Amino acid sequence: MKSPIILALDTKDLDTAKSWIQATNLSINTYKFGLEFYLKFGATGLKELANAGDFEIFLDLKLHDIPNTVSAAVSSVAELKPKFLTIHASGGASMISAASAAVPSISITAVTILTSLSDSDLLEIGFASSAKDSAVTLAKLAVANGARSIVCSPFEASEIRKVVGEQIEIITPGVRPVGGDLGDQKRVMTPKEAISAGANFIVIGRPITDLAKVSLDEMRKGSALILDSLN
Ligand code: C5P
Repeated sequence: MKSPIILALDTKDLDTAKSWIQATNLSINTYKFGLEFYLKFGATGLKELANAGDFEIFLDLKLHDIPNTVSAAVSSVAELKPKFLTIHASGGASMISAASAAVPSISITAVTILTSLSDSDLLEIGFASSAKDSAVTLAKLAVANGARSIVCSPFEASEIRKVVGEQIEIITPGVRPVGGDLGDQKRVMTPKEAISAGANFIVIGRPITDLAKVSLDEMRKGSALILDSLN
């Protein structure tokens, strides 16, 4: 089974991460490890999780530096064989192509505009266009320089799909099941809406991980329900 759900393992506890993988692995094949996890446990932590299930790694490090440094950073994590590794598209053409060339087997995943930034925030940091237009421009630039996947808001997915074509994988956070608690997310789509808008993968965190507070069995059922809702 190839699941479009990517579960964000946002936890500082290795055993918790392991139990979440074991509880959801029937419905989920890809897990996202962000800075919270990676800066604490590093490669050793990821290797320890390897036998918790059969899964692929989305390494969300959002790299952004000079091309030489980013290229070296991509090589440094190559032994972990991440399926996806994020960089900031705003690092520019040379940085994106250096990242993409460093380890060709890794799908370099370009983050366009963080959804935490409003149009006025972007103006303040010197962007000339709206979040949506900037995201489309950055996605185009990223793909032209070798990125094979894009992270964007589900609200930008259909515009981005038009400029990047069908081969590029679009990944969207900002997704909530029908009736789900929004948490700090403001503009959200349901998983099915995000897929219809052009996403290949959806990143979900708390709507699934919070179920572990009830029980791991609830977590297993919750992830299966979300997967079912996509059919
Ligand atoms: O818990 P929730 O479903 O909101 O988690 C979504 C995950 O996706 C978190 O790891 C969060 O950092 C990440 N993310 C996001 N919005 C973005 C980019 C990443 O929520 N624009």
